[in-house]
Amino acid sequence: MTRFSRITGTGSFLPPRRLTNADLVAELASQGVETSDDWIVERTGIHARHFAAPDVSSSDLAFEAAKHALAAAGRSPQDIDLIIVATSTPDMVFPSTACLLQHKLAQIDEAAAGIAGAPAFDVQAVCSGFIYALTVADAMIRAGSATRALVVGAEVFSRILDFKDRTTCVLFGDGAGAVVLEASNQPGILATDIHADGKHAGILCVPGHVRGGEVLGDPVLKMDGQAVFKLAVGLLEGAARAALNKAGLQDSDIDWLIPHQANIRIIQSTAKKLKLPMDKVVLTVHNHGNTSAASIPLALDEAVRSGQVKPGQTLMLEGVGGGFTWGAVLLKL
Ligand code: UT7
Repeated sequence: MTRFSRITGTGSFLPPRRLTNADLVAELASQGVETSDDWIVERTGIHARHFAAPDVSSSDLAFEAAKHALAAAGRSPQDIDLIIVATSTPDMVFPSTACLLQHKLAQIDEAAAGIAGAPAFDVQAVCSGFIYALTVADAMIRAGSATRALVVGAEVFSRILDFKDRTTCVLFGDGAGAVVLEASNQPGILATDIHADGKHAGILCVPGHVRGGEVLGDPVLKMDGQAVFKLAVGLLEGAARAALNKAGLQDSDIDWLIPHQANIRIIQSTAKKLKLPMDKVVLTVHNHGNTSAASIPLALDEAVRSGQVKPGQTLMLEGVGGGFTWGAVLLKL
């Protein structure tokens, strides 16, 4: 019997502090940085984002999202035998955020301690991170090296923003999303398609690094927005088409497109290329901003919980980000 992987539960978490564009515009103005609600809405579709409190880290957000996903799947931490966290804003250089998440889950109660021993690691593919993580978890489940995986995207991007750079600081937010992915004889994940091209590393990066006990270089996000924009639409279409081809499906078989939520204009262009009307696209960018690796599982969870996306439907998840990395996962919920 063919072994597939299937999503059995979703969860997400947004830190409580919500800043509307007006809130952010006022904060930035007090530091001499000029922007406007009109500019942000017109160029990006973003109306608000959430920022984590200073003492809250990616593993804290991941922990909350993971608990919701486990509850939705009817599973407990000790049922999990693989943890993958996609993040570019880890709590520490090491250990991985996945290991820290595992320990938080293990402390829930005596039985939950059984999650210790499960392999746990981070995936660093920036805004494509969740697509990469889901692809790896699917491959490990199909190969028989895992049975029930917790796959999480968690970010505190507010920590790596330069609030003097209006071209980037208005775009991002914090949050986490998670899924439980289980072995099944029913598909599940139908096809995955991931790619990278390091020659574009410089157009979207945080170039700082730790050396000799100091941070060298600039530890804040740098982006050539227009260059990223131009590349993104073509790459997203290519990955989505490759996933459809692998599964033997057509554009018209997609019930919902759940794209990385960076910019409404990129999302609209991608939907158009896939001949999908916008009422088949899950949108959260207006409320969350760009939460990098968290954006796709956050959007998925909101769509599942609101009843927008229903069991049995075919979903195209796709993302693009720093690296450059890009990819798509086609699945039946
Ligand atoms: O998640 C990873 C992937 N990341 C992305 O997908 C981001 C992709 N890029 C984008 O979403 C868009 O390129 C941006 C939203 C970043 C920028 O939009 P744009 O339409 O490409 O604007 P632009 O960079 O061409 O800037 C237009 C103008 C410039 O002024 P001048 O030179 O025309 O006078 C900017 O200085 O807008 C100005 N500007 C701003 N004005 C007010 C840039 N940022 C701001 C701002 N407020 N926050």
